[in-house]
Amino acid sequence: MTDVNGLTELHLSADSAEQMRAIATEVIAPHLRAGDLLILSGDLGAGKTTFTQGLGDALGVRGPVASPTFIIARTHPSEVGGPALIHVDAYRLTSLAELDDLDLDTTLDDSVTVVEWGEGKAEALAVDRLHVRIDRERGGELDMANPEGGRREVSILAHGPRWVNVDFAADTSSSDGDLG
Ligand SMILES: Nc1ncnc2c1ncn2[C@@H]1O[C@H](COP(=O)(O)OP(=O)(O)O)[C@@H](O)[C@H]1O
Ligand SMILES: [Mg+2]
Repeated sequence: MTDVNGLTELHLSADSAEQMRAIATEVIAPHLRAGDLLILSGDLGAGKTTFTQGLGDALGVRGPVASPTFIIARTHPSEVGGPALIHVDAYRLTSLAELDDLDLDTTLDDSVTVVEWGEGKAEALAVDRLHVRIDRERGGELDMANPEGGRREVSILAHGPRWVNVDFAADTSSSDGDLG
């Protein structure tokens, strides 16, 4: 965890989809509460939906969490009396300022909202937000038997007063930030 001009940044890596889900489940989800907003960025196949599946598991929402590509947003109600998960795909949108107008069966204030492809679009929704950026490791060897596989670098940037004094790093199991 580093703190640069009040901007909190955490860098982790995930060697598998399971580890990507574990970052969501173990590092991020324990700190989430109703009203929180996460913006996910990364190329197609980076692992944004995989990350969101980990959040859904940890929040105890009704699944399955899947790519919401053909709809704008899907609401997953809680099965444990907690906040719902609103899973948004902003790929085709230019702005999310109107997200609150969609018929989501719940409000952003009562939910944890995750926006895939939300960079540059969802910031207007809230001063407080977590930006999760997922990058495939560059220069890594492509495994022809498993072309989707490989290590991902996960950068978590916390914006806004909501996240001051929230120490995500306290949950990581090893000092180099690698959950593996
Ligand atoms: N280290 C990893 N982290 C995340 N996903 C991985 C990893 N290695 C392989 N995968 C696979 O890559 C794919 C990521 O797809 P998905 O989560 O839908 O990406 P996105 O939503 O960013 O388009 C999944 O099939 C997942 O199993
Ligand atoms: Mg996706």
